[in-house]
Amino acid sequence: MNGEFIDLHCHILPKLDEGASTAEEAARMLLIARQDGIAGVVATPHILAGLYNNTKEIINHAISELTMSANHFPIYSGAEIRIGRNLAARVADGELPLINNKRFMLLELPAYVIPPVLQLENIVKGLKGNHITPIFAHPERNVPLQKDSSIVERLIGCGALFQMTASSLSHPDLRGPCLKMIRKGFVHAIATDAHDTVKRPPILSRAYDIVSRKIDKDTANRLFMHNPLKIIRGEDLEQCP
Ligand SMILES: [Fe+2]
Repeated sequence: MNGEFIDLHCHILPKLDEGASTAEEAARMLLIARQDGIAGVVATPHILAGLYNNTKEIINHAISELTMSANHFPIYSGAEIRIGRNLAARVADGELPLINNKRFMLLELPAYVIPPVLQLENIVKGLKGNHITPIFAHPERNVPLQKDSSIVERLIGCGALFQMTASSLSHPDLRGPCLKMIRKGFVHAIATDAHDTVKRPPILSRAYDIVSRKIDKDTANRLFMHNPLKIIRGEDLEQCP
């Protein structure tokens, strides 16, 4: 298995958030990704008002600079967007990027206190009504979602998707809950959420092996390869059997 992963969530762009701090670090992260069998990464710097005021324009500019120094390794545009109001309007205004300019949007919930579920459902429905499919990042690290998995079910019922972080599967306390979420069909893709080369590196192969071994290879292929590829192409995902 080589060169077929797509990493949907990676803080690779230097100086735009708390991810890569220099162009050199970004280049080293890309090298690690390539060696791990990752064939392309989606650059997903944070967009969070007041803290990370990134825009589609800023992100695209940073991607073209990094691509030039990266031997044209595929780096797709994206962002990890803090949930809020008017997301579809902000996409239409050209402020917020969709993943590879297609139809999926990576969203981040606050880790400890989230909006009421009805409000979240309305946000998902509003986006779907505008032909945008939201993907919520790392539900396994979100306290309210872990306390009440019916929230995840309800949002999936409205058309939302969920992306798990690969390293959570290696975490002793998180592995069990993560595998349970995957078995329930609550996870649609797995990505690195990489921030650097050491503590949070862009590595998918370990988690791929864990899912292959503990669940099955078809599920691993769907979550690490097939669905991420469909997301960057803007296509419908593979359904769970
Ligand atoms: Fe992230």
